[in-house]
Amino acid sequence: MQKTDLFDLSPVPGATFGGVVRFKGGVGARAATEALEKNPQSLLDAIYASGGFLLIPGMDEILDDPKLMVRLSQLFGREVENNLTTYSAENRTLFNVHEEVPEIIIVTNAPPINDQPMTRPEPPLTADGKFPTRFPHRRGWHTDQSFRRPPPDFSLFIAVQPTPKGQGQTLYADATAAYETLPDHLKKKIEGLEGLHALPGNGRGEKAVLAGQAPKPLLPHQHSQKHPIVRTHPVTGKRMLYICESGQMDWVDGPIVGMEPGPGGEGGKLIYELMTHITQDRYTYVSDWTKGELVIYDNRSVLHAPSWYEAHKYIRIMWRTTVMGNPGPEYAGEQPSWIPRTAAAE
Ligand SMILES: [Fe+2]
Repeated sequence: MQKTDLFDLSPVPGATFGGVVRFKGGVGARAATEALEKNPQSLLDAIYASGGFLLIPGMDEILDDPKLMVRLSQLFGREVENNLTTYSAENRTLFNVHEEVPEIIIVTNAPPINDQPMTRPEPPLTADGKFPTRFPHRRGWHTDQSFRRPPPDFSLFIAVQPTPKGQGQTLYADATAAYETLPDHLKKKIEGLEGLHALPGNGRGEKAVLAGQAPKPLLPHQHSQKHPIVRTHPVTGKRMLYICESGQMDWVDGPIVGMEPGPGGEGGKLIYELMTHITQDRYTYVSDWTKGELVIYDNRSVLHAPSWYEAHKYIRIMWRTTVMGNPGPEYAGEQPSWIPRTAAAE
């Protein structure tokens, strides 16, 4: 794989996509950030050459100096989300925003945030004794903030306090390779279709609909958003599948625009078929976290899913930033869907 003066890039062991970045001379996050700011294209080239997924171990200095994470994020796009201005608009509580660095979301089961992990897959292992990655055995596959238009480009995710090996992993899937290998009849079927993506927690997810819950009334800036099921990457020009499942699609009016709605409807069946295809072993990678490891994923071309851990026994702390700015020409000129419009702002 490619070489630069700053770092070595090698394939992710055991994966069909992704790259591992190791900075030369064993420099830490601070020196690496300073060097990358002088040559930002090198890391962008690396992630596009690696299918939209980079693993960077040894970034522990970020944990003492979280602004480094924002500086690194700025290499990937013109806007790093400030969660104080955007998450409050979606009725998110503010305590999951880092106190000093509002670009960082804290994902943790520690109080007062108390996020709980995914339900353990049932059965916990596949029939041949492997860790399950494939939908619908493994649930929770999504791409960050797909309930927004324009959707974000990248997320950066770092382990502050991981769980022991074998728990609390994050799973990733290469949605570009998955599109390329779709049978022709499916490619033809999904061409031009749009998915309807929902803000979780409003009674529009698959489970809520199956349980007969009434969907909550939504403010205009909380409405579900449409995206093409097949997107073209604005940088690489490659086509990729852009869908989520369960709680991040709208199972009341969707999940696919213009198809029979609801769980068991034609649209839902198509989501199941596509998601089962994307999450095959040959397109997925399971990341077992170590403290100070940073992952960067391109939300346009990589899906991911959280996994189960013993939340009563372990505290897991992760930090995430979200980078926006280059969703592609189909979003050109759009105002952010998630920001409430006031008379003064019109
Ligand atoms: Fe996510």
